[in-house]
Amino acid sequence: MAHYQQQGSIPPKRHTQHRRPARGRQFGELYYEELMGEEGFSSDSSLLYHRNIPSTIADAREWPIGDLSTTPNHPLVPRHLRLHDLFSAKDVKGTDVVTGRRLVLGNGDVRISYAVAGAPSPWYRNGIGDECVYIERGRARVETVFGAFEVGQGDYVIIPRATTHRWIPKRSTKDPLRAYCIEANSHIAPPKRYLSKYGQFLEHSPYCERDLRLPQGPLLAEDVGARAGDHTEVLIKHRGNGPGGIVGTVHTLPFHPLDVVGWDGCLYPYVFNLADFEPITGRVHQPPPVHQVFEGWNFVICNFVPRKVDYHPLAVPVPYYHSNVDSDEIMFYVDGDYEARKGSGIGRGSISVHPGGHAHGPQPGATEASLGVEYFDETAVMVDTFRPLELGEGGLAVDDGKYAWSWSGGRRTDSGGGDYSIG
Ligand SMILES: [Fe+2]
Repeated sequence: MAHYQQQGSIPPKRHTQHRRPARGRQFGELYYEELMGEEGFSSDSSLLYHRNIPSTIADAREWPIGDLSTTPNHPLVPRHLRLHDLFSAKDVKGTDVVTGRRLVLGNGDVRISYAVAGAPSPWYRNGIGDECVYIERGRARVETVFGAFEVGQGDYVIIPRATTHRWIPKRSTKDPLRAYCIEANSHIAPPKRYLSKYGQFLEHSPYCERDLRLPQGPLLAEDVGARAGDHTEVLIKHRGNGPGGIVGTVHTLPFHPLDVVGWDGCLYPYVFNLADFEPITGRVHQPPPVHQVFEGWNFVICNFVPRKVDYHPLAVPVPYYHSNVDSDEIMFYVDGDYEARKGSGIGRGSISVHPGGHAHGPQPGATEASLGVEYFDETAVMVDTFRPLELGEGGLAVDDGKYAWSWSGGRRTDSGGGDYSIG
């Protein structure tokens, strides 16, 4: 994020002495400056001023990170995954957004997980890539070393790689916290074509700087009822020899991680709400790139929001059949009626998996039913990946097993090859 921000106490010039109040002594103690930067000092960065030496650890041990194994989508079929079946009501109380997330789909560039959480998470940082956590329902407080956010339905919470943070669900809300977690192995940012060469959002972008929420900070240990000297465990997801090249470590700090008195720069977590996305519409059907909201390496994130639809007198409002020859397309259906999927069993909480190598489009009858419709009340979050996605244990557990036949009357004509289900 190329928009400079500063919060809290920072010295007038970078890399110069910054001290605590003197309190009767000649000088106060120095704060410890940390540069958190991308691409080896060659891209966006921030400077954070800590009360403690940021490299201090008192202990380290393994964090058993859970099942991140994946299974190829082979034989190749489109799939319908029912995410709301992944967690029962009694699971929620003891589940947190970090350790409770279940892997639905993943490849070497991105992992999509889901958690329905009622418990506060441990302190956590992802050392592999940025995270984009979409809040399907519920509310939470997200505390980070940059400051805190209050988040709720429709929020995309963008957490840069290596940001120490934790999730605290609000228990007072009717809906539990439902978090759709998109973990990159890279950075996640607004599409480059939305930005000027210096990083300002351009006029044709469907959102801009005013739509982004920044952390309210800085946030210190005493602000969350902790003592500065408290030992704290931080779970770190990092590269290693586990499934997907991922392993976990727990670091014990001899102090509380909220010790940043001030920071400035262009690298920080932020929040964007889907309701602030201004849809681009046309006389005839607009292609999915107009719905793009973020991009990472080898994948994009798009959202479909309630909107006026195509207004040519002979327009066909639902999509044409399409074969994204370079992509797998993952749609998460969040709200409303998804016109193109009528009759397929897909509803709120569903994911459709439309893999590369196979054309997809509206279910039978949906095209005719859409003629003359002026408005779609639908909300969906889409991830398109350029490398094939494999199914995680969560995805396998809630595959409806019949979506592939929804264009052929719901019936599979048995060719004698056995079941297509895997896992
Ligand atoms: Fe599609």
